[in-house]
Amino acid sequence: MIRLINREKIKDTMEYKTRYANKKDDKNLKDFWEEGKKKGFFKYNGDNKILSESWNNKNNSYMIIAINDKRKIIGLCVVIGREEGRMKHRVELGWLVHPDHARKGIATRMLKEVIRRIKKDKIKRAEAEIAIKNTASIKLVKKFGFIKESKREKGLTLDNGKYIDTYLYKKIF
Ligand SMILES: CC(C)(COP(=O)(O)OP(=O)(O)OC[C@H]1O[C@@H](n2cnc3c(N)ncnc32)[C@H](O)[C@@H]1OP(=O)(O)O)[C@@H](O)C(=O)NCCC(=O)NCCS
Repeated sequence: MIRLINREKIKDTMEYKTRYANKKDDKNLKDFWEEGKKKGFFKYNGDNKILSESWNNKNNSYMIIAINDKRKIIGLCVVIGREEGRMKHRVELGWLVHPDHARKGIATRMLKEVIRRIKKDKIKRAEAEIAIKNTASIKLVKKFGFIKESKREKGLTLDNGKYIDTYLYKKIF
């Protein structure tokens, strides 16, 4: 059974809910990804594939998706952690919001859910690597008290082949 995390109304009164992604969301995720790429919006994220099975909802790795009343995915937040070993107290985070639904607080809502789960799982360190030009993501993490830890030179390759620097942001729990 699908576990709902939350149901919210966004500023334009469209209703949406958040829940954990599963294998059945793959087609919907693919459409979401392609639309965002086509509109030139998803340019600073590291991965070029976002199938839910990659994360498989294991203990420390999962994906939260935001879905609107037309069952369309409008945002996602991924958490990637290890199941065992000396780094299993750490997770890496990533997020994407559909360009038509940006700046409505969806990423804020998803990150809030993720942080609640991270605390419940007793994770001690969350990190996010963000392109230095990615103002939206930087604002997002700052809202949640993440701190800039370091700058990574040539941390990311853009689609045009150029390398750009990234910041590593962390939050310690
Ligand atoms: C980053 C991203 C997920 C933010 O999603 P969102 O749902 O628009 O974010 P929110 O509405 O919750 O806004 C979070 C904060 O960022 C600000 N913000 C959002 N988009 C912004 C923009 N384009 N420019 C400046 N600030 C922006 C918001 O005002 C808000 O800050 P505030 O509460 O102080 O006003 C979205 O812009 C996105 O998908 N970008 C492309 C993919 C990407 O870069 N992923 C991250 C890789 S690290």
